[in-house]
Amino acid sequence: MKKIPIIISIFTFIAVTVIISSCSSTNSLADAKSGAQLWGENCLRCHNAPSPDTFSDTEWDVAVMHMRIRANLTENEAVKISGFLKTAN
Ligand code: HEC
Repeated sequence: MKKIPIIISIFTFIAVTVIISSCSSTNSLADAKSGAQLWGENCLRCHNAPSPDTFSDTEWDVAVMHMRIRANLTENEAVKISGFLKTAN
């Protein structure tokens, strides 16, 4: 079996490290996003983003639970979006 040159191993190691660390920094970026930002980014992917004053707090609980499933949001994202909608309605 041919030996893999050391330079390729080092390159692969660096590439994998960069990929892994960029994934984890993407996650912490998502965590740092505000409810308003998440609402703007997610809730108009499929339809116009509904204005916060469309619904009451209780109605938003139901709608966000419904849309959390549709939009495939994490619990943290759904909680933030719902919090934003409730403070702005
Ligand atoms: C993956 C596509 C998709 C995304 C993303 C999405 N929606 Fe929807 N939304 C729908 C569809 C489809 C409907 C029509 C009702 C149904 O079939 O579920 C809908 C309906 C609604 C309704 C009508 C009331 C209801 O509960 O049915 C509201 C309000 C709503 N969406 C709010 C939101 C909010 C807020 C977000 C962001 C968290 C969001 N949507 C993100 C697809 C989406």
